[in-house]
Amino acid sequence: MESVKNRLDKNNIPKHVAVIMDGNGRWAEKHGKARVFGHENGVESVRSVVEGAGEIGVKYLTLYAFSTENWDRPKNEVDALMELLVKAIEMETESLNKNNVRLSTIGDINSMPTSVKENLENCINTLNSNTGLNLVIALSYSSKWEIVNAVKGIVKDAIENKIKPELINNELFENYLSTAKIPDPELLIRTSGEYRISNFLLWQIAYSELYFTEKLWPDYRKEDFFEAILDYQNRERRFGKTSEQLISQ
Ligand code: FPP
Repeated sequence: MESVKNRLDKNNIPKHVAVIMDGNGRWAEKHGKARVFGHENGVESVRSVVEGAGEIGVKYLTLYAFSTENWDRPKNEVDALMELLVKAIEMETESLNKNNVRLSTIGDINSMPTSVKENLENCINTLNSNTGLNLVIALSYSSKWEIVNAVKGIVKDAIENKIKPELINNELFENYLSTAKIPDPELLIRTSGEYRISNFLLWQIAYSELYFTEKLWPDYRKEDFFEAILDYQNRERRFGKTSEQLISQ
């Protein structure tokens, strides 16, 4: 049986794939362990998917690692997640570099602990001249936060006469989002059998294809990611047009 990777159409690889990594807690529970055990095992899935995305030529991979709402989890879980992030970033920098991966973040990075910020900065600087996959980690991110933040920036610039309110349009608005200069994701994947968007990239997924899988994040590997890409490739993206219009274009 030919591998899923070989069945992919190389000319139709999405430029940007976004992933809601969900199910770490339930995975840990299934194994009779504390929730943190699930997060720890989720790092292996991150490694595999980053590798897989690079292999097939995805240009941007955005991972939802910590949401604004996640701050409300029990303190011990939040602390453990922060520690895990620091460790994972430190441990993975070398192999990310070997794989030509660049790193950036979206979200309210200033709200993260200093140790996370410093680690991230080091890693981002080390990987700065790489030209392969752009790995985007969403940290202390929520779409409503991002949109309100964009509005604040626009109002400020309008008051300072840097922009004219009548010239505000989609393109200008996008420049104020934390994803400015990143193309919208063609595909959004969510693991763990939950059918929600959970405040993730609400503006950017206006026309994204959505893919849900029952697999819990710590069980997710690049082969599962390739399955999602294959499914995406079998869909017709109409952007509000009719099939006939697409064929005649
Ligand atoms: C959701 O599962 C997962 C998270 C909130 C954290 C994801 C973080 C990692 C995988 C750590 C490493 C990340 C990077 C980028 C190095 P959940 O806890 O909501 O699971 P549940 O729905 O089963 O409770």
